[in-house]
Formats: sequence, C-alpha cells, structure tokens
Amino acid sequence: MNKIVVNGGKKLYGEVEIGGSKNAALPILFAGILTGEACVFSHLPRVSDVLLTLEILRSLGARIRFAATGDVLVDYSTVRPLLPSVAQTGAIRGSVYLLGAMLGRFGRARLGGAGGCDFGSRPIDQHLMGFEALGASEYTENGALCLLAANGLRGADITLKMPSVGATANVLMAATAAKGRTVIRNAAAEPHVVALCEFLKAAGAHIEGQGSSTLTVCGGTPLHGCATTIIPDMIEAGTYLCAAMAAGGRVTVKNVVPGHLEAALDVLRAMGATLTVGKNHVTLKAPSRYRGVEVTTGPYPAFPTDLHPQLAALFALGHRATGTGRVVEAVWQERFRYAEELGKLGARVRIQGASATFSPSVLHAATLRSPDLRGGVALVIAALATEGRTEITHAATVGRGYEHLETKFRALGADIRVFG
Ligand code: EPU
Repeated sequence: MNKIVVNGGKKLYGEVEIGGSKNAALPILFAGILTGEACVFSHLPRVSDVLLTLEILRSLGARIRFAATGDVLVDYSTVRPLLPSVAQTGAIRGSVYLLGAMLGRFGRARLGGAGGCDFGSRPIDQHLMGFEALGASEYTENGALCLLAANGLRGADITLKMPSVGATANVLMAATAAKGRTVIRNAAAEPHVVALCEFLKAAGAHIEGQGSSTLTVCGGTPLHGCATTIIPDMIEAGTYLCAAMAAGGRVTVKNVVPGHLEAALDVLRAMGATLTVGKNHVTLKAPSRYRGVEVTTGPYPAFPTDLHPQLAALFALGHRATGTGRVVEAVWQERFRYAEELGKLGARVRIQGASATFSPSVLHAATLRSPDLRGGVALVIAALATEGRTEITHAATVGRGYEHLETKFRALGADIRVFG
C-alpha cells in the first residue's frame, strides 16, 4: 500500500466485518515460541506487521503453513536462538516480544532493534527491569541487546512504573518460564493483554488476575502447543465508527466485543451519535452535526491512545463539528504528527504540550503524507468527509494495521482507491 486516493463527500452506509486485533496477534505469535510445539491461530489479521512477524519467526526456524480454512499453523519446535535481521525487527514494535519469549524458552535472547510508529522516544526500561528481576542480565554485543539468564529464571515481585502494554506482555512471557511465583503489579489491562494471558493459559501456564492491575504467574512448567482465536480489533472497529461519524450515514461494525469499545462509544454518544449495541456488533447512526468534546487518552479502560488521531479528525471537520474539540494525550506525548497534515486540509489546530485543540473549519482536499499508522488512517477519515480528491502518500504505514481497507470502505459506499 503506497498511496490512498479518496474522493470525499459521500455518506457511508452498511456493515463492516472487523478483523483480528493486531496488538493481540503480535505478542501471541511471539509467545508461541515458549511452547516449543505447533500452535494454530484463527482470525489472524493479514496486516503487514503480522506478516512481517511471521517472516521473523520463519527466519528463526519456525515452520509456517497457511491452511485453506484461513487458519495459520506455526510449528515452533524448530525455532533456534538466533539473532534476527535488524531490517526486519527494526520495522515493527512487536519484535520486542522476542526478548521475553526467547529468554523464557532458551534462557537467552538477542535483538538488534525494534521499530514501530515514531512518537519520539519509546523506552523499554520497564521490560528490562522486569527481566533483571527474574534473574536475567543484560549486555550489548555488536550493537544488539542481549539477555542471559545464566542461572535460570526465578519468580519475583515486580512493580511497573506505568501500566505498559509491552512491558506487561514481555515480563509475563518470561515469567511463565521462571521457577516459582511472579507478581506483576501496575500491569496493563488492555484486552490484548488479557488475550495473551488466555493464550498462555491454553498453552498450560498458570496465570491469575488478567484484566486487573495485578498478574500472578506460577511459572516453570513447560508449555505446550494449542489453538487460539485472535480477538476482534477494537481499534479497527473504533476507526470505522469514527469514519461513519465524520462522513455521516449509518454503519454497523460486526464481530466486535462491545465492552472493549466502551470508552470510545461513550465519547461518540456524548458527541451526538445514536448507537445500537448488540452482543457482537455496534451500529452508529451519525447526527447531522456533532458536538466537540474534550477527551483524555489513557491505559485501558480509558479512551485508547490508538484512537486519538481518528477522533481528532472528527473535531477538525467544520461542516460536521460544532464547537471546540480537544484531545489530551496521556500515553504518547508526541503523537501529534497527524495535526500538521490535517492543517494542509485547512484544519485549525493548536498543540500545547500534550494536547491538541481544534476549532472546526471547512476543509478542502489536498495531498497529504501519512505520518504513522493511526495518524494515516485519521487522514483517510478526514478525506472521506471532505469534498474533492485527497491523496495520501506513504500509506504503507496504514497497511501495518488495516486489512482490506479499500474493500471495506468501498462496501460502505466510499470512493477510495489504494495503490501499490
Ligand atoms: N514506557 C516506558 N518504559 C517502558 C515501556 C513503556 O517509559 O519500558 C512508556 C512509553 O514511553 C509510553 C507508555 O509507557 O509513554 C505506554 O507504552 P506501552 O509500553 O504501553 O506501549 P507499547 O507496548 O510500546 C503498545 C501498542 C501501541 C499502543 C500502546 C499503548 C503494540 C505493538 N503497540 O505499544 O500501538 O499505542 O501499546 O496502548 O501493541 C498502534 O497500534 O498504533 C500502536 C502504536
């Protein structure tokens, strides 16, 4: 996906089937290493971050088979503790999960680099603090970060400085292999962290407290292969709901867990959307105009940072929004690169510290550059609601997390084309 072209101004009507969660799939695929056996994954999203993860696993020796049913079979028995290519691991954030998974399986891990969207600095000090508490030592070798548990891993009481998704998942993986009891305090409670716990439990791990801020792991028993279904992607679902709100119309997102979307649904409702919530679908009927509101992002169950740019796009649209809208970003304080691009459409936005305040103005079509995954899709949302032809370059960033973007939006009546 290189370029996205949108002829905006059409309302959206219909249903869209939501795929598996990228941010659940990545840690689960890496966690499979701990089993040393074959695992079967259903509903794995075919987004580029997931495909690259499979390539990394293959380069480490895993055998991968795409079944006709759509399931993906990964045999981890042949994985070896190699140093994966920096070009590959450096392209996605999820590659940090190799540390916890390899450390758990082999007692050592090496990583040349991990990438992901650029929100300024993305430290992993809390991951390393957790590994050290479990008995691993850290050193660098030819620029690669290395971990070694020379005397094996043992359970520990670990308190994270913040409820980091990555640190929780990584330390949890290593803890399943650590002898004895590990407690992770101030743990992340995101649905994708719970999904990882469920996967590890299906593989034989003893974990309690998932979904709360304290996880307890009784580790040291070998894990075994298992089958799992990846949970629906709450961020993809939220993105289509935001798009319906922006463009107008009525859209149903299917295959969702509405409970995961609660914070987003509360905000859309407060803005004036009419929502019908079913067991595993949500229908949004957009109002003729919606209100600007103030939203602060935060760890689950707060409003997700990964929906911040999409919401901000709504606030920018002068023909749709009434009043000022404001997003306060409490997770990634530099997640505002999308704002400059919205400015090219005529948006009036003021960034002050970690907040963006939008005074609605009438937007016009332009050529834009996708800054990152969610920032890029926010530009798509703005373009769908804006009359004229908007072109978004560097769109590979969007393909990292959205599968069948063109097909799904076209089925809703949008005039959108994806190139490359
Ligand atoms: N942090 C530290 N030290 C650490 C770890 C995190 O200071 O050791 C800080 C970060 O700088 C940030 C905050 O803690 O300010 C939260 O970071 P977290 O570790 O939770 O983020 P992550 O694991 O790197 C995942 C998602 C992101 C999502 C965040 C927050 C994946 C692959 N990435 O990142 O997803 O924004 O959690 O929910 O799961 C996206 O999908 O667009 C995306 C960026």
